[in-house]
Amino acid sequence: MIEVRNLVKLRGTTRVLDDVTLKVERGQVAALVGPSGGGKSTLLRCMNGLEIFHAGEVQLDAVKLQPGEQRSASAETLRQLRRGVGMVFQQFNLFPHMTALQNVMSGPLYALNKPRAEVEPQAKALLERVGLGEKFHSRPDQLSGGQQQRVAIARALAMQPQVMLFDEPTSALDPRMAAEVLGVMTDLAKGGQTMIVVTHAMSFAQQVANIVHVMQAGRIVESGSPAQVFGAPQQAATQQFLSEATTAKNSPRP
Ligand SMILES: Nc1ncnc2c1ncn2[C@@H]1O[C@H](COP(=O)(O)OP(=O)(O)OP(=O)(O)O)[C@@H](O)[C@H]1O
Ligand SMILES: [Mg+2]
Repeated sequence: MIEVRNLVKLRGTTRVLDDVTLKVERGQVAALVGPSGGGKSTLLRCMNGLEIFHAGEVQLDAVKLQPGEQRSASAETLRQLRRGVGMVFQQFNLFPHMTALQNVMSGPLYALNKPRAEVEPQAKALLERVGLGEKFHSRPDQLSGGQQQRVAIARALAMQPQVMLFDEPTSALDPRMAAEVLGVMTDLAKGGQTMIVVTHAMSFAQQVANIVHVMQAGRIVESGSPAQVFGAPQQAATQQFLSEATTAKNSPRP
């Protein structure tokens, strides 16, 4: 479904992505974990054409994005890729002047030029699906962080993406709001949505992911089932990352 082959991204002379290959099958949930600065966000941003890369290829079904293309001829390739790949960020990125409903309708109305009569009931159904049936007309500043993030998820889903990318969707949220968002993501996964999730929520990765990739210094250093990666990590980098993640979780919040 979505595949990244031998991706290289340079920043100055640093290889922030260093020969990354990753494949996610339809209906699969892949978790991407690893230490800060490892390249997780950069990888997701390359996968939906938000960042240029220097070598390798991103393929979504029949659509292929190659290095030179991001700057030149293939506006159509980029458009297809962005349409097929939904993204949810840590900081929600909702349109502040629009209500929840307007946020969710914005893509289908303005990017896909669909008629409002078709878009509005679908947007309402999506907001209901993420537990916000009462909040159609609230603006982002009238919603909690967890509610805003659920609007952001509904907004991404409104484009009916083939794949959903999540970049630390719960790390700006307190535990109760994070749990609400993780609940929505778990339902999506159970419904067969293909997803790639960058997360520090290890228990979510453990319970929901089919495969876990550990990324460090621009490379995927270990991949396997949650049981393998969390239970019996093979690489020193994974062991260190997991022990630090566990320590951080058990120490009191500042
Ligand atoms: N806008 C930028 N300009 C320059 N360097 C950047 C920029 N964004 C990221 N980097 C660098 O690229 C590398 C990969 O960063 P990236 O944000 O992809 O890591 P990450 O794994 O998502 O980390 P975190 O867990 O902290 O979110 C890091 O060395 C980072 O410092
Ligand atoms: Mg990041």
